[in-house]
Amino acid sequence: MPEGACAGGIAIVIDVLRASTTIVTALAHRATRVRPVRTVGEARALAGQANVLLGGERGGQPIEGFDLGNSPLEYTQERVAGRDVVFTTTNGTAALHACGDAADVLVGGVVNRSAVAALVLRLANAEHRDIHLVCAGTDGGVTEEDLLGAGAILAAAIRLGADEQRDLDAPARAAVADFRAVEQSGGDPATALACVFATSVGGRNLITIGMEHDLAPAAAIDALPVVPRLDRATGWLVGDRSAEGLLHSGRQRKER
Ligand code: MLT
Repeated sequence: MPEGACAGGIAIVIDVLRASTTIVTALAHRATRVRPVRTVGEARALAGQANVLLGGERGGQPIEGFDLGNSPLEYTQERVAGRDVVFTTTNGTAALHACGDAADVLVGGVVNRSAVAALVLRLANAEHRDIHLVCAGTDGGVTEEDLLGAGAILAAAIRLGADEQRDLDAPARAAVADFRAVEQSGGDPATALACVFATSVGGRNLITIGMEHDLAPAAAIDALPVVPRLDRATGWLVGDRSAEGLLHSGRQRKER
């Protein structure tokens, strides 16, 4: 991403496999907050503080001496509720740090896509800011699973009132089309998405290291309506739950 690309805007950082999904899961399961740091050394330096758990990966694998890896399945309520999590991953936390000049930084995935869409539309309308979907990718390359995550968030934003033609640029419209193609391919959309993830760069990497069990949780559309939002004063991500009620009442209306 060119330097300053998100300056003054709202950045949504997307690393579906797996940093975004894992951060959202930690906060949904009542971790107090998550601190994204660039290096293993920075994480270790914060380890001594009361209440801190260390989490993350290198090469997809848990880091020696850390309490947790980068599998969302590890971030259970029993493990993380009431704890601070210091977190470092290869691409996801690096992408978060690359958005340092954005006015607001959110973390988005498939699991919280409607909650992210609701919050970002509210912020963008109130503050008249541009929205940037920052796909973390793998080793500098864009990956299919992150584009699908972006498409999932944008499709939700359109459902909530964004105008596809007026508000989205061409790459954003293409991401929506890709997501809709998977969503409407027949059968359960989350299952279809997990199947596509299995063929993506990030998915193939996970399969190679025996972590294919993380594909389905990352594809669980709208399962966790919490949005990690960076508190600039402290450098910690905290969970915004303002969309919870909104999405819940929308679901009830649809079911009636
Ligand atoms: C990353 O941040 O590079 C990824 O989350 C890698 C992984 O899935 O472990």
